Amino acid sequence: KILILDFGSQVTQLIARRVREAHVYCELHPYDMPLSEIKAFNPKGIILSGSPQSVYDDANYHADIGLFDLGVPVLGICYGMQFMAHHLGGEVAAGNQREFGYAQVQTIDSKLTKNIFDEQANTLDVWMSHGDKVVKLPENFQIIGKTDSCPIAMMANEAKQFYGIQFHPEVTHTKQGKALINRFVLEICGANPSWTMPNYIDEAVAKIRAQVGSDEVILGLSGGVDSSVAAALIHRAIGDQLTCVFVDHGLLRLNEAENVMTMFAKNLGVKVIHVDASEQFMSKLAGVTDPERKRKIIGAEFIEVFDAEEKKLTNAKWLAQGTIYPDVIESAGAKNSKAHAIKSHHNVGGLPENMKLQLLEPLRDLFKDEVRELGVALGLPREMVYRHPFPGPGLGVRILGEVKREYADLLRRADDIFIQELRNTFNEKGESWYDLTSQAFAVFLPVKSVGVMGDGRTYDYVVALRAVVTSDFMTAHWAELPYSLLGKVSNRIINEIKGINRVVYDVSGKPPATIEWE
Ligand code: XMP
Repeated sequence: KILILDFGSQVTQLIARRVREAHVYCELHPYDMPLSEIKAFNPKGIILSGSPQSVYDDANYHADIGLFDLGVPVLGICYGMQFMAHHLGGEVAAGNQREFGYAQVQTIDSKLTKNIFDEQANTLDVWMSHGDKVVKLPENFQIIGKTDSCPIAMMANEAKQFYGIQFHPEVTHTKQGKALINRFVLEICGANPSWTMPNYIDEAVAKIRAQVGSDEVILGLSGGVDSSVAAALIHRAIGDQLTCVFVDHGLLRLNEAENVMTMFAKNLGVKVIHVDASEQFMSKLAGVTDPERKRKIIGAEFIEVFDAEEKKLTNAKWLAQGTIYPDVIESAGAKNSKAHAIKSHHNVGGLPENMKLQLLEPLRDLFKDEVRELGVALGLPREMVYRHPFPGPGLGVRILGEVKREYADLLRRADDIFIQELRNTFNEKGESWYDLTSQAFAVFLPVKSVGVMGDGRTYDYVVALRAVVTSDFMTAHWAELPYSLLGKVSNRIINEIKGINRVVYDVSGKPPATIEWE
């Protein structure tokens, strides 16, 4: 396995993605991981990430340099390279001009670069983003790549298997980046490419069995990808020792409860308790219009319902959750970042604080796309596993202002028509608009406008359609859906749903708007 020390670059997670794509297991740890822990981790190789810092900036941004004495290969990327140079006797100059974007690197043959560059020109097409650069090599290092503005763009000490690269091989803009990372982890480190889904399932199943023994496990199933895959995996490991609780808060998508019950209880044979708590949620939400209050009420109510079910299961000793690796990294990083809470993103299914259950989180090591791959391997339908995200408070934040059952019923149907048409409409390359968008849904606007249908005048509600394209949901573009698709969705909604006579399309980006309307 490979250890990645994270110095805080925006793209460190991508290094881990690329290493896992080479089927090598890796973990990301903070840069100040103690040497004793690094030794205990026993890595086949270490990768030092980039950083917004400069080696001169902040003495606290330093890893334990004992890592250079462990006899394992080290790859420093950007700041990682500068860190390596700085501590092994080279010299780093504070750049007075930043180099950002595309660059061409002239390479010199080395174990890392041989046969990776474009054959004729010996060049790599790379993506640079740095201010500082290495200006003097440490002892026993040689240059293995250079650009016009950066004479030491790549360096190596082949005897010790230390490599430094100034550009970012982990981003897809660096054409041969994947090949470079594969070369480092597979050939230079000699790491075992055994990180495959079937192997992972076997290991995870054995681990879950060892962990819980004959205890009972309870899991809050939301119908979302993470909790669904966690349920399928745990069920594979311990069968009927797992009980899932599916809470229907009355703010789910059309037929969601039936679909979840069919998929898990009927098809996979998982024990699922279906709690229809919609009455309870609706009455708690009556008269409440403030978005944050609505979120808090739904979250608190969810915990109450879940808690009550848990108490009935007297033997449950474990609470399973679909926590995934980015959640783990995020909450570890959150301690020193000033994350700004614009909306209270509670995850419905969160851990009630007074629960005396141990946590079982079998997806903690996996990235989202690995979770999806695992779900397919466990027999979940592809359509389910590649679904858009759906917020915990559900339609509660898509009905503006007060939530009413009547509104939820209208919205569910409109949303379903929109999603159906997105799934059934394709671009010229044959990709569905559902897959071309990252998240799409309908929003209920509790205002009435005038319309005309047949000979009669109507005075009905408005529905807004929202579709966005984003990679991280932190920023997003509105999706440029074809007019014909929008037209068809609008016609169907207005014709098929009595009570809605107008459909509008949201053309706001994030920022300044958010993806959800509340
Ligand atoms: P915003 O609206 O903040 O949404 O641009 C970003 C992503 O977060 C989801 N979201 C939520 N998820 N509970 C959740 O579990 C929430 O309260 C919540 N609010 C927003 C939203 O669907 C989008 O994917």
